[in-house]
This record gives sequence, C-alpha cells and structure tokens, in this order.
Amino acid sequence: MSKKILAIESSCDETAACLMDFSSGEMTYNFEIISNIVASQIELHKKWGGVYPELASRAHLEAIIPVLGEAIAPIGTIDNVKEIDSVAVTKEPGLIGSLLVGIGAAKFLGKYFDKPVSEINHLEGHIYSAFATSDKFQIPKQNIFPILALVVSGGHTSLILMKSHIEYETIGQTIDDAAGEAFDKVARIMELGYPGGPEIEKCAKNGNEDAYKLPLSMRNSKDLNFSFSGLKTAVLYLTKEPKTGRLLDYNKTDLAASFQKTVTEILIGKTIKAIEQYSPKSIILSGGVSANGYLREHFASRISAITDAQILIPPKNLSTDNAVGIAIAGAIRSFK
Ligand code: KG4
Ligand code: ZN
Repeated sequence: MSKKILAIESSCDETAACLMDFSSGEMTYNFEIISNIVASQIELHKKWGGVYPELASRAHLEAIIPVLGEAIAPIGTIDNVKEIDSVAVTKEPGLIGSLLVGIGAAKFLGKYFDKPVSEINHLEGHIYSAFATSDKFQIPKQNIFPILALVVSGGHTSLILMKSHIEYETIGQTIDDAAGEAFDKVARIMELGYPGGPEIEKCAKNGNEDAYKLPLSMRNSKDLNFSFSGLKTAVLYLTKEPKTGRLLDYNKTDLAASFQKTVTEILIGKTIKAIEQYSPKSIILSGGVSANGYLREHFASRISAITDAQILIPPKNLSTDNAVGIAIAGAIRSFK
C-alpha cells in the first residue's frame, strides 16, 4: 500500500515543497515524485552578493503558501492535505528565520489535519536526494552500506558515514569555510556575481586550469577534515597586492579554472582517503556544489578508478536545496 508524504524545505534561500508516493517493499523503499516545487530567491540576493537573512525570511513568508499550493495541486487544494499520510520538514541547520517559516507551516498542517510531522536534518536531505535519479526510483534497504557521503554546500563540507538508513557519523568536515562558501567568496573577489558557484563554473569553461598554482590546503593531512580559507586568500592575493591593495593583472578564466580544479582536487583527495579507511559499498556526492559539472565528472571518473562501489550523484536540480531529499528521509524514518 502506498502512502503520500508532503515535505517542506526552507533552510536558506529556496522555498521548496514536494509531494511523493512511497511504499516499503521486501528489499526496497519505493518512491514516486508527484510534484517538486522550488521558488528561488537568487534575484533578490544578487545585489548583496550573498544571502541577506532578513530578506530571505520575508521572501519565504511570501512564497510558502503559493509553493505549498503548487506542490499539492496534483491532488487538489490545501484541503486535500487530509489525504496525505505525513509531513516532513527541514529542522536544522540553516538560517533561523528561514527555517521557522517552513517549520511553522509544517506544524500547522500537522496539527490542523492531524498528521505526523517528522523533522529532518538538512544534510540528511542532501544525502537522500542522490537516490532520486528519476521521478520513480527505489532505494535498497540493505547491501548498500556503509555509504560514504560527501556533502558540499554553501554551509557544509562534510564526509558522512552511514552504517544503515538514517544512522550517520561525521568522519570529516571543514575547519573553516565550506566549499560552496569558497566558491561564493572567490566569485565576489573576482566580481563574477552571485551565486558564485555557477558563475565560476561558467567563467572557467575556457580557462587553463594549470595556469595558477593554488594551495591544496590540508589535502595531505592525515585526518579527513578540509580547509578552504587559505585557498580563498591565495586567490585574493593574486588579484590584489596584500599590503597596498593595488589591483593586479590576472586572467579571470584561468584563475576560475585553477580554483575549480584545486577545490575538486581537495575534495577528491579526502574522499579517496575515506574510501581507503572505510571501504564503503556506496559513495554519494551531494549538496549545491555537486551541481558543478567539472566536479561531477572528475569525482565519478577518479573514484570509479579505485573502487567498485556504486557512485550516486543527484541530478543537478536536486544537488541544490530541494524538498525531495527531505521527503525521502521522512518516509524512511516512518518505517523505523
Ligand atoms: O546546498 P545548497 O543549495 O545550499 C546550502 O545548503 O548551502 O548549496 C549552495 C551552494 C552555494 O555556495 C553555491 O555557490 C554552490 O552551492 N553551487 C555551486 C554550483 N551551483 C551551486 N558551486 C559550484 N558549482 C556550481 N555549479
Ligand atoms: Zn543545502
């Protein structure tokens, strides 16, 4: 018997909701995406060069009802929430004002329609998004663990080990900036616009990735942690003389390509180290930075060269923030 789950994600600058069918088979959890709606605030934050939290909360307030309406549309109006079985919502981490809009909406729906509400960690949503490679998909219950997940977003760079469904251990993380944050800050330094990741990727297209030698910070340290702030500063000092602030001549496309290559090298290096230590059966690359074509391509080819583990990367629209992963995590939690 299949059930329906409505999920909400509002932790940063996307107001997202989705409706999914799910069921539990003998060997797999089975899913079908009925709707997947994302309202982006990119235009709003562009002129600030980053997410402006107060504006983000207000934009979520405006978007949440229309987004929920669109997500429910395939089965009717908000009244038809009575036909769904449960609600899932992102609880943390994220911008508190933004999170509260989604949590408030989910709790209201849960109370009013008498439905259970599960509160999901944002990173858990990113991890499970990787399984949604088409509108209809299955997730094995066993034989895929341990899973090694590299979550690379604007707020996180984490290596997470899953021993079973919804059982997580963080085995490495950034000690300063997140990878996405580094993309955003470097894009600001190079005046490439916001959000930085896609802009750097575009700019890097025809660049020479070996033109600039940038620091592979912590690439060779024994632990599984990351650091990106030294890399960002190295880029800064190639564009501006540190002492005088004098602007320097540099090649934008080459610097963007060299930066993208260096981040990719650091991420792949630590993932390989984690694979050697934990011998995972599955490897996931997810989070906003996993929308980067260069990273996706190099991660898949380099990792598949050293292990037979299956590699899962979400489709690009599910790399960045979305409610699909939140729905999957909520659905799996309902069986536990
Ligand atoms: O997961 P996400 O949508 O939100 C957070 O949880 O933070 O990730 C957003 C981050 C931003 O830093 C953005 O610049 C980065 O993901 N990003 C990219 C690309 N698309 C988004 N970074 C590199 N290349 C991209 N194509
Ligand atoms: Zn995210």
